[in-house]
Amino acid sequence: MTDRYAVFGNPIGHSKSPRIHALFAQQTGQDMDYAAILASVDGFAASIRDFVAGGGRGANVTVPFKEEAFRLATELTPRAQAAGAVNTLSFDSGRIRGDNTDGAGLVRDIAANRGATIAGSRVLILGAGGAARGVILPLLEQQPAAVFVANRTAEKAAGLATTFAVGGGGFDALAGRAFDLVINATSAGLADAALPLPAAVFAPGCLAYEMLYGRDTPFMAQASAAGATVADGLGMLVEQAAEAFFVWRGVRPDTAPVLAELRQG
Ligand code: ATR
Repeated sequence: MTDRYAVFGNPIGHSKSPRIHALFAQQTGQDMDYAAILASVDGFAASIRDFVAGGGRGANVTVPFKEEAFRLATELTPRAQAAGAVNTLSFDSGRIRGDNTDGAGLVRDIAANRGATIAGSRVLILGAGGAARGVILPLLEQQPAAVFVANRTAEKAAGLATTFAVGGGGFDALAGRAFDLVINATSAGLADAALPLPAAVFAPGCLAYEMLYGRDTPFMAQASAAGATVADGLGMLVEQAAEAFFVWRGVRPDTAPVLAELRQG
């Protein structure tokens, strides 16, 4: 029988996950089906229950349900616990295992696809919301020289800094500092808003990583003007999907042809 998987979100119409997982399944010969399911804003848990009752084996979770998925899980992996959010659920005889593959996806895209070395480098994370929190532990596991979290609301950055024992503050704290890897985990790009970044935060040879994809953001323009190499978040999307696929199926797909196909449109 074909195993059923799905991504749950609201909105969900433009999700690339069904296409990515269909390509992975085809490539690895896994007998599975992967759908996109629109859950109502207050109907996520019910929607998951229906899916499990219908034989669903696993789910991805996207905006705005990642924190609710965290609460719904009956067990959590350490990386989901650190993220405070879940993007991958596995269903097994009444148990719901919550995982988070976002940070692993980011790290793999940076290291394997972009060829950047995180170990020993100075890392700046912009933003202190769910997206930022989700990637800090996997980044720290790569043993960077230092991690600093900067956020518009400085107190939120200070909170994350305390939790993860890294540096943190407002954007004004960036004066005089330089980084080898700058990751934009804010949602500012969705509003076409620029961030108040001194050009000198981008050290020579810096990789500037925008976690959003499908648009050129002001952050990408700022970073490029400052001489940084710029990456968008499409690779992270494919890599977090590959990590979820591995969690469910125990098989690691080759992401390069899938990423190439998505880049073609
Ligand atoms: P997500 O789950 O995408 O992280 P979130 O938890 O709402 O969403 O967090 C959004 C992040 O983007 C926050 O760090 C927010 O800064 P504040 O904490 O000060 O609100 C940041 N952000 C959103 N719009 C921004 C803008 N125009 N300039 C700077 N930061 C912005």
